[in-house]
Amino acid sequence: MTTQVKHAIGIDIGGTGIKGGVVDLETGQLVTDRVKLPTPEGGKPDDIAEVTKKVLEQLDADPGLPVGIDFPAVVRHGKTMSAANVSKKWIGFEAEKFFEQAIGHPILFVNDADAAGYAETEYGAAKGRQGVIMLTTLGTGIGSALIVDGMLVPNTELGHLEIDGHDAEKRAAYSAKEREDLSWEKWAKRLTTYYSTLEKLFSPDLFIVGGGVSKNFAEWGDLVKIDTELIPAQFLNNAGILGAAALAAKQRS
Ligand code: BGC
Repeated sequence: MTTQVKHAIGIDIGGTGIKGGVVDLETGQLVTDRVKLPTPEGGKPDDIAEVTKKVLEQLDADPGLPVGIDFPAVVRHGKTMSAANVSKKWIGFEAEKFFEQAIGHPILFVNDADAAGYAETEYGAAKGRQGVIMLTTLGTGIGSALIVDGMLVPNTELGHLEIDGHDAEKRAAYSAKEREDLSWEKWAKRLTTYYSTLEKLFSPDLFIVGGGVSKNFAEWGDLVKIDTELIPAQFLNNAGILGAAALAAKQRS
């Protein structure tokens, strides 16, 4: 039965919204309207699970479909292990089991950047590309996904590399540009430092930049002076949904 699964549900839990959609696994297109509800204040597991359940109800999809849920934390075997920009209640929390109970359905729980990276390699900017591909999302934090010949190496957490004595995401995430009111040029210098460090460590074949600011890539992409090809992500808002759905379906097959 499993290889015949054509659709899966993806839910992306972010700082401001919880978004869901039903994904065509062949094309990576949404086959329903996207449902988006605001993330509850404080971001505690109970409240998030309640809203996630509402998103699923509003999607009104076949309950037999695989469900993937992504979240901005390290996720090891279904357990969330970090909380850089979310409630500390998620540290050491059996998230996958908790959501399965809350929703009454098996799910896959995965890191948000890993989901986005997988979506870009399966359906988006890096479709058909082989080698060492690294996606970074530049938002409140920096998320990272490392995909080698189509295989995801989960939880790389390269936003937390220490560079010049700083947690990298505190200097180079898009939130740092906004917080410190940096020009594109100044911010791009920080990105040059950041991506040069990744280059030295991983010698990737391709960098993909995701997160909302990738839509302004034309304004700053050329200002990042590195040797490796750097391209914007194809999916702005839906990458997490697509990747979580695809990974859930893959796990089931
Ligand atoms: C978290 C990562 C997450 C990234 C993007 C970082 O602060 O540690 O797990 O992928 O933010 O949301």
